[in-house]
Amino acid sequence: MFKTAVFNTKNEHDVLVVGIFEGDAFSSDVETLNQSLQQQISKLKKTKKIAKQGKCTSIYTLNQIQSDVVYVIGLGKKNEATTESIRVALASASQQLTKEKMSKVAFLVESFANESVDQQDVAVLIGEGLALGTYTVVDYKEKNNEVDVSIEEVVLYGSGEQLDEAATVGYTYGQGTNLARKLVNTPGNLMTPTDLAEEAVEVAKKHGFEYEVLEREEMEKLGMGALLAVAAGSDQPPKMIVLKYTGNPESEEVIGLVGKGLTFDSGGISIKPRENMHEMKMDMGGAAAVLGAMDILGSIKPNVNVLAVIPSSENLLNGSALKPGDVITSLSGKTIEVRNTDAEGRLILADGITYAKQLGATKLIDVATLTGAVIIALGDCTTGAITNNEEFMEDVLEASVETGEWIWRLPNYEPYKKMLKTSDVADLNNAPGRAAGSITAGLFVGEFAGDTPWVHLDIAGTAWQSKATDLGPLGGTGAMARTLAQVVINKEE
Ligand code: BES
Ligand code: MG
Ligand code: ZN
Repeated sequence: MFKTAVFNTKNEHDVLVVGIFEGDAFSSDVETLNQSLQQQISKLKKTKKIAKQGKCTSIYTLNQIQSDVVYVIGLGKKNEATTESIRVALASASQQLTKEKMSKVAFLVESFANESVDQQDVAVLIGEGLALGTYTVVDYKEKNNEVDVSIEEVVLYGSGEQLDEAATVGYTYGQGTNLARKLVNTPGNLMTPTDLAEEAVEVAKKHGFEYEVLEREEMEKLGMGALLAVAAGSDQPPKMIVLKYTGNPESEEVIGLVGKGLTFDSGGISIKPRENMHEMKMDMGGAAAVLGAMDILGSIKPNVNVLAVIPSSENLLNGSALKPGDVITSLSGKTIEVRNTDAEGRLILADGITYAKQLGATKLIDVATLTGAVIIALGDCTTGAITNNEEFMEDVLEASVETGEWIWRLPNYEPYKKMLKTSDVADLNNAPGRAAGSITAGLFVGEFAGDTPWVHLDIAGTAWQSKATDLGPLGGTGAMARTLAQVVINKEE
């Protein structure tokens, strides 16, 4: 799909995409283009402020060059542009490409670069932006919205070597994110634990990963009492999904990625209020992020070992459902008093984390739409994190800076851990109260990580956006798919 070439106004494209910075002189390719278009770009720049960050202006070329349209994207001040601001600008231009059904596209790579973001980086961002910006949510209307035109060819004009390879890497990141978005956006009746397991197996087969899907009987034998307790209220069979990528057979190190795969959360007997309950189809956002990351890793193939573990269930209510006051025994042997059946994520993650350790994970990251409290604390643009290991936390934060996905740490002090030990009848209380809700939820999961270096990511706010942004449409965002993959890739020796 991607090709690197030297800029020539005589080449034919549906659209040529260029970036311009406020104030600065044009790069040489933009100047060439400006000349061919009889100074249209510089005139517009003077009068219409088209260089403002995020603005996309179409210039019809009337055959003065061989592209039908030029998209001029404003990038703001050159010395202030960052990877993130350029990614957003490119994704928003890509949304326009989809709307206008463009299929042969070219980019002036140099026009997006500055001192901190070079042409290679820009090429990655073009690939990523194209995938992210062209994603649409499938609907199920009589006249459905399946896209009939898609991008066929992307020419990258620039001087860097193998810009096409860099763009392909970016595109892979974007596609993994889109897989996660798709899984989150699929309605709960069409994305049951069984469907989620099928999707996971598909990812495994695509990349040649080992995989295993545990059924109820096997969970009973192994003693996965926490996952089984949550699943008891639903007619849909639970699944424990495992994917394994062995990128470095010589190494003992295995990064475990554990994703909450709750395909619909009604709250159970501690039922949720009716308003917006439909959005709880997104409660498998952690699982989606893990599968998105595995899809990215399967293409990039770093020499690192990764184990993906996804406990999956519905949280519903029938005559056998888990009840407040019930005491259950988790796979680890620790007992849990269930004070609130809506705090189900930490229960299934408890068994997910323990199982990942049993299968050899030496480091753990769990990702989950775990608490409403994290939305109160951080809103929908920042993921909440908690850890038992400073160094590993730093690795995750570093990766998130590269991918532009914000993460903010929450404290893990002793008094919070004590709040979990407030059951008279069991080792742990699954719902110690509203105070510090995201912290106690995270630390509950941490009880099962024990001494294994562990980072918890609460994506209840970031997995879903309730309005469209430059990066994508309303709905699933694919949050943390790219960051999880980046953490693994950064471990490459
Ligand atoms: N899946 C929810 C958390 C959630 C809330 C995700 C909003 C996305 C958006 C989770 O299972 C839950 O219900 N948590 C409870 C915990 C409480 C009962 C201790 C919550 O946040 O209210
Ligand atoms: Mg819940
Ligand atoms: Zn939940």
